[in-house]
Amino acid sequence: MYTLGINAAYHDTSACLVEDGRVVAAAEDERFTRIKHGKRPVPFSAWELPYHAIDYCLAEAGIELADVDHIAYAYDPYLLLDEGSATITLPLEPSAGARSGLAPWEPLFLSYLVNAERQLVDGVPHRLRKRFQSAKADRHWRWHFVEHHLSHEASAFLASPFDECAVMTLDGRGERASTSYGHFANDDYRRLGQVTMPHSLGLLYEDVTEYLGFLRSSDEYKVMALASYGKPRYVDELRHIVEVGVDGMYRIAPLNLTQRFGPARAPGSELEPRHFDIAHSLQHVLEETVLELAMWLARTTGAPNLCLAGGVALNCVMNGRLRAAKIFRDVWVQPAAGDAGTALGAALWIDWQHRGRRDYRMDHVYLGPASTDAEIDAFIRRGKLRARRLDDIADETAKLLAEDKIIGWFQGRMEFGPRALGSRSILASPIRPEMQERLNDIKDREDFRPVAPAVIEERAAEWFVGGRRSPFMLFVFDVAADKAERIPAVRHVDGTARVQTVNRAQHPLYYDLLCAFERRTGVPVLVNTSFNTRGEPIVCTPRDAVECFWTSPLDALVIGSWLLEKEAP
Ligand SMILES: [Fe+2]
Repeated sequence: MYTLGINAAYHDTSACLVEDGRVVAAAEDERFTRIKHGKRPVPFSAWELPYHAIDYCLAEAGIELADVDHIAYAYDPYLLLDEGSATITLPLEPSAGARSGLAPWEPLFLSYLVNAERQLVDGVPHRLRKRFQSAKADRHWRWHFVEHHLSHEASAFLASPFDECAVMTLDGRGERASTSYGHFANDDYRRLGQVTMPHSLGLLYEDVTEYLGFLRSSDEYKVMALASYGKPRYVDELRHIVEVGVDGMYRIAPLNLTQRFGPARAPGSELEPRHFDIAHSLQHVLEETVLELAMWLARTTGAPNLCLAGGVALNCVMNGRLRAAKIFRDVWVQPAAGDAGTALGAALWIDWQHRGRRDYRMDHVYLGPASTDAEIDAFIRRGKLRARRLDDIADETAKLLAEDKIIGWFQGRMEFGPRALGSRSILASPIRPEMQERLNDIKDREDFRPVAPAVIEERAAEWFVGGRRSPFMLFVFDVAADKAERIPAVRHVDGTARVQTVNRAQHPLYYDLLCAFERRTGVPVLVNTSFNTRGEPIVCTPRDAVECFWTSPLDALVIGSWLLEKEAP
């Protein structure tokens, strides 16, 4: 039984294909179209489906759209309708609508959503028609609209390693909800409650992101990075507007940021101390609020573990604090926690509903396209590129890294979710402090942005305080005091690092590379950042990788078995 999950209502458009409970493929559309986040999360772009990602998922399974049994669209437009009437209820409060300019477009938004199935068949771009064409006559699928937050929830508990867990999802907004709670136990899922708009921790974070001169629904991680440099100067004021109830509910009072904190920062202008302090205070209030909600959820469910999804769950500082608080025995965050992951959740939910069993545990994110050595070889020859075939990929790459070369690394299936985790990564040595600056220069990023370490899983506890399995780079840990001087490039200003642990089962070649680097340097850690430059999606194909390599200051590219190097100028 094939179930195709689609996320298209807002941004990070994506597709996921599940076959009898097993995830065959999942990818964001941005990797194929090269448009970051796929599109802006505005109502008049809701018609646009992730055709390229869908086409890839079908190709990976060797099927056509007509072969699909269920299509799970991760948003339910009917939840936007008032019960018993056909009138549209604007889910935004008038003030919020006026602020964002969304409200006047809602009828169009709704129309695009309810017609998504027609659009899927009729709107496919010409060059992708091959796998979609027969669906016009031969389709037999059942179409399902799956609530946005239920999709986030299912992406967490159905993919988690747990048989029993509490579930919390936090994002900007879904149809009406911004936060959701549930309990998964005995192969049964019970929704416990939802916080609805306009009260949204995600939206508060987005508002501040925009106020600080960054792109909302996109750059929230930059605010999280800024927070480490600030002081808790505004904590009391922000605490004042977030009111947590006894039942997991919370309310957020309207806040005029300009009135309270002065003029908004113009994008690209100098960052002032108050900007760092606002970010710090916001991050602080987010963390303490989520801790309080988690304590309520633990009391209510009695569940030993917690799993999280929704865009806010990409906040790895918050996640680190939640894990360290030991409210739950373990905390698991679904790595495509943003809206891209709702395609995964919707597909897993429908599969689970129809088959009545769960056959999947998400242990890695390598669910995207790969290129064979033969394909890479043909691409290199066609472009008349100078490349050398490596006998020992791991060892020869480790040698270059130990010489402080910065390397584009293209190996195996592309990652699903926003993080590069060793398939489409830029790798470097963490041993010299100036590496962070060099990497930020290569990627044309702001100076305050930290770079993150990948570490051999078995070594994590030696190098990071409380270091344990963390394969998705979604938790921060303190760098161990006796190791801090060995890996200065990955140590953030507050002494933490956003760690990825790697074991051999997840990505053998990446693991072997870390081991080879340790043999040469005594350090089982590499810097890992995504293989892209500013504003670009992570590379997907050999062409993307080679273009990025030749148009950035990268020193070398290791792609499949081949090494491309630049001559010293
Ligand atoms: Fe969401």
